[in-house]
Amino acid sequence: MKTNPATSVAKTGAATTRWNPSPWRQDFPLIAEQTGLAYLDNAATTQKPTAVLNAVRAYYRERNANVHRAAHQLSDAATRAFEAAREKVAARFGASSAKEVIWTRGTTEAINLVAAAYAPLVLAEGDNVLISRMEHHSNIVPWQIACSRFGARLRAVAVLPNGELDLDDFDAKLDERTKIVALSHVSNALGTVNPVADLTARAKAAGAAVVVDGAQAAAHIEIDLRALGCDFYAFSGHKMYAPTGIGALIGRQELLEAMPPWQTGGEMIEHVRIEATTYAPPPFKFEAGTPNIAGAIGLAAAVDYLNDLDFARVASHEADLLAYATASLNQINGLRIVGTAGNKSPVLSFLAQGAHPHDIGALLDQQGVAVRAGHHCAMPLMETLGLPGTVRASFGLYNSRADVDALVTAVHKALSLL
Ligand code: ALA
Repeated sequence: MKTNPATSVAKTGAATTRWNPSPWRQDFPLIAEQTGLAYLDNAATTQKPTAVLNAVRAYYRERNANVHRAAHQLSDAATRAFEAAREKVAARFGASSAKEVIWTRGTTEAINLVAAAYAPLVLAEGDNVLISRMEHHSNIVPWQIACSRFGARLRAVAVLPNGELDLDDFDAKLDERTKIVALSHVSNALGTVNPVADLTARAKAAGAAVVVDGAQAAAHIEIDLRALGCDFYAFSGHKMYAPTGIGALIGRQELLEAMPPWQTGGEMIEHVRIEATTYAPPPFKFEAGTPNIAGAIGLAAAVDYLNDLDFARVASHEADLLAYATASLNQINGLRIVGTAGNKSPVLSFLAQGAHPHDIGALLDQQGVAVRAGHHCAMPLMETLGLPGTVRASFGLYNSRADVDALVTAVHKALSLL
């Protein structure tokens, strides 16, 4: 009988084999069915498991109605599923309560919410906001705008040549006028995992509030906000096997209560008169308008899916892929890996023989290898590294060593064509 390598791994529980097939590959129809594709753009967005696809479809087929509004049973069923999703997210991330989970379109909107509604409470002329030079633009631009509104300065922690944060520079730039520290948990461009618990402790000791951009962490690291100690944590569903257009800001309740609304309209109110309005308590105060109900239900299905996995095994599978890919690419003449931090998520950025990253990306695509190429929405980081951009391969739990082999073969061919 022919053995299915994935099944044999699942049954024996072996963490890796020579090929390291993913036991979860069959859970993702796009991955399982598109056999000629090595999908290595998971930092941009992940594929969705059948459980998520089914949950979204079932919602639209069986329970579609608006939430928190109507007097009918369908709306009641939709509302219960929508709020159960909030509870699931709260539990997965270690929030103190579901009231701390605000639905957003994703990480970008979550950070914008903090910059628009929290920054005005604390920023004054002469204060500063501390970010780093490795941030995604979505954790830079909102702070530029907030600083310019209040006469505050934006400071950026330096990045070392290996892609780690310069922790001495962090300490040097953190002072008693730092009101907000906003850092990525994991760099989208290089995969560096930042020591956010430690940095949060330092920032809190200096009196600053801490915002963590968790977009690249949520699928790869088990996050416990009680242990991290930050004030706000932002993430996107679509990077953790859930639909696009849904994510959350998880914020400390007392801060959310003090913050004014940032978008206004239906659902975020308690009472409206023409003269004045009183607002609903958090999280609803920050959720004006009809939310992405299907997205929240799909995200809950993704959380269930992740909760049912042995996450230590996922982490070891992804670590194996990163190590194998690093060793394989390092053997290619003229190829340079960018970002060699000691603690890395499964993201591998590289440059090849001075070729423009977009050219390499296009040549890989022609061979069925999907990567991202360019500045990765991290232009200040690229400027720091003196690079126009990189080619980035990023892994998800359904990838296997065969995908890495496909990448290596495709890079060789691309280089032979340049
Ligand atoms: N922020 C996403 C990425 O890094 C889109 O690709």
